This record gives sequence, structure tokens and C-alpha cells, in this order.
Amino acid sequence: MSRSFSGKVVIVTGASKGIGARLVRKFQAGGAHVVLSARDEEAMHAIAAPGDLVVAGDLALDATRERIVEQAVARFGCIDALVNNAGRGAYFTATQSPLDDSRALFEVNFFAPLHLAGLAAPWLKDSKGSLVNVSSIAGQISLPWLPVYSASKFALAALTSAQSMELRRNGVHVMAVFPGYVDTEFQAHAAGSSPPDNVVKGKKFAVSAEECAVAIIRGMERRQRMVVTPKIGWPLVIFSRLFPGFVESRMELR
Ligand SMILES: NC(=O)c1ccc[n+]([C@@H]2O[C@H](COP(=O)([O-])OP(=O)(O)OC[C@H]3O[C@@H](n4cnc5c(N)ncnc54)[C@H](OP(=O)(O)O)[C@@H]3O)[C@@H](O)[C@H]2O)c1
Repeated sequence: MSRSFSGKVVIVTGASKGIGARLVRKFQAGGAHVVLSARDEEAMHAIAAPGDLVVAGDLALDATRERIVEQAVARFGCIDALVNNAGRGAYFTATQSPLDDSRALFEVNFFAPLHLAGLAAPWLKDSKGSLVNVSSIAGQISLPWLPVYSASKFALAALTSAQSMELRRNGVHVMAVFPGYVDTEFQAHAAGSSPPDNVVKGKKFAVSAEECAVAIIRGMERRQRMVVTPKIGWPLVIFSRLFPGFVESRMELR
């Protein structure tokens, strides 16, 4: 891969596994200094290169988010990109989603990206860097087996659009990512029950974490405003905008 991130300082949340771990490898190959964050410190040290920085902690906590930006700036003196990738699911139906878990999910999937972007914004303006938020196809089409997760990813997509409109005049590139099914341990890490059988079967259409990371990197290099991966997600997104009732009827829980 090209050395397009040579010398750049890139924060990746959810860097311990899945899509985030693949992204770290890509940024390292591109010559970046990576700031890795997640809870599993050992896993991150196994991925980190000698010039990288590991900041372990729970992203549900304000203090973790503050430490990430403080330590990144103390070590490197700048931030060129923030990739808000950490997130988790919750398999509860819409009427049975527990309030405490729903609030906890929003802390990680929505409030952490919101808070981190606010903390990093002055540095991203200085560097004319990139702010990337990993939403989901569930942030375009409401999934009834993941309703609160969908709501958090819709919220993140709306936030990303507003961040783009605010930060463009400062030369900051803002990008939302909408992956479909990605072959990671996401389902195993989600709260609640298992997803319905037809959803599990859908795993055969999954893209790999590697493919997802490649699409994100390409989007950053081209300074795209959004990435849908795999591309087959596009007709789904457009179809659901044009015919929402039909799409809902096909996705109904039975
Ligand atoms: N897999 C899919 O099908 C899919 C589809 C669309 C979008 N996405 C999105 O892609 C992103 C990455 O998901 P993935 O598939 O790579 O899932 P994953 O393998 O479960 O990885 C999730 C990452 O988020 C971190 N994380 C979760 N809760 C955290 C917390 N409270 N504090 C700090 N870090 C936390 C995890 O690290 P620790 O456990 O070490 O804390 C891990 O590094 C998520 O935002 C997800 O919603 C995934």
C-alpha cells in the first residue's frame, strides 16, 4: 500500500480486534503513528508497533476519552485523524430493550464519538485532518432485531453530517462509514439474545474485516463524505428511502 499516512498521527478506537485491528495494520503499513484505544490492553500491545501509543480504557467513561486525546497530544504534538470505530450491538426487540443497557450502548456508540470529536476538533482543524465515524447499514435501515443499536447508528450518521457541515470551512474532512455484514466477533460481543436464524445465515454475504478496512482507508485517501461497504448496500439504502413500507414488511419479525 502507498505511504499515504506517512508520519500522520491517527487515533483508532475499538483497536483491539475486528475492523479496528485491521485498520491499525493498514495505518501502520501507510507509515502512520497510531493511537490505539479499547479495553483489552494486552490485545492492543500485540498489535501496536514500537512508535505507536496504547491508551486502554472503557470508552463509556468521559475520563478514558479525555486521556486518549491528552496522551496523543502529549506524545505526538498533533492529531491528523480520529477514527471512531468502537461499538457494540444489543439483540433485544424494540419493546423489550432494557433502559440501562440501551443507555450504556449509547455511551459507547454515540456519546464517545461525540465527546472525542469535540476534544480532537481543535487539533484536526490545525492539521486539516480527518474525522471518521463508523456507523452501520443499520444507521440507514432500521433493523428490528437491533433497534437500539440502529438508533445509535442513525444518531451517529446525523451527527456526522452536522460535523461535516461545521468543519468543512476549517478544511477538516468528515466521513461516515456504513458497513453491511462484516465477518468479526461483533455478534458474540453484543448484549441480549442471539440474532434470528435468517440473520445468522446472512453471514455468508459478509465482507471481511480486511475488506472493510481497505474501503475505509480508500475513503480517507479520497476524502469521501461516505463509504458504503460492500457496495451492494447502496441499492438497499436507496430502495428503503423510496419504498420504506415495503422494506419494513420484508424485515418484520415473525
Ligand atoms: N461486524 C459487523 O457486521 C458490523 C457492521 C456494521 C458496523 N459495524 C461497526 O463496526 C465497528 C467495529 O465493530 P467490529 O465488527 O469490529 O466488532 P468487534 O470485533 O466486536 O470489535 C469492537 C471493538 O470495539 C471495542 N469496544 C467495545 N466496547 C467498548 C468499550 N466500552 N470501551 C472501549 N472499547 C470498546 C472493542 O474492544 P474491547 O472489547 O477490547 O474493549 C473492539 O475493539 C462497530 O462500531 C460496529 O458497530 C460492524
